Amino acid sequence: MDGLAPPRPLRADDFDAARAVADGWFGHPVGLTLHRLFFDQLGPHGVWIARDDGAPAGFLLGMPSASEPDLAYVHLHAVDPALRGRGVGAALYRDFAARAMAQGCSRIRALAAPGREGSIAFHRALGFDGPLIPGYLGPGQDRIVFERALPIP
Ligand SMILES: CC(C)(COP(=O)(O)OP(=O)(O)OC[C@H]1O[C@@H](n2cnc3c(N)ncnc32)[C@H](O)[C@@H]1OP(=O)(O)O)[C@@H](O)C(=O)NCCC(=O)NCCS
Repeated sequence: MDGLAPPRPLRADDFDAARAVADGWFGHPVGLTLHRLFFDQLGPHGVWIARDDGAPAGFLLGMPSASEPDLAYVHLHAVDPALRGRGVGAALYRDFAARAMAQGCSRIRALAAPGREGSIAFHRALGFDGPLIPGYLGPGQDRIVFERALPIP
């Protein structure tokens, strides 16, 4: 993609840059959802895309499931609002999915809150489907539990 470096595995030292942009990119405080654990301990499973000048363009936190080895789980992903609609989000997913497949995963899961229209549209465009499960993350925390088979075409 023009002006962007190729996707690469997330590193521990990406944490500060992600923390600096995450609330603005999501449009609300993300708090400990963006936990350092995903960078320091799980980083190499995630994906980072930078602009050519090194500024963050998008990132994905996720990992192959330890309890369901055929499942790749996306915890969170976000793209710079100035770069949306150019395929950066899909590139994050495809890079994550390719590496998860190499580790034996054959399906991928991600959650979306019912009001997050952009996230829902993104996952549907990538061929995800799934039920809305009331209280999935606790009282009042309904989520659509999206899944699809790998690879992502
Ligand atoms: C969701 C998000 C990551 C999408 O990133 P993006 O780089 O704009 O997505 P892409 O350009 O790769 O789009 C991939 C597909 O999704 C569709 N899509 C993405 N955002 C969409 C939106 N808001 N409305 C409708 N369709 C959308 C695109 O049209 C494209 O479909 P196509 O392949 O049929 O053309 C981005 O909007 C974002 O960072 N949102 C805030 C954080 C968030 O909600 N993260 C997800 C939950 S953790």
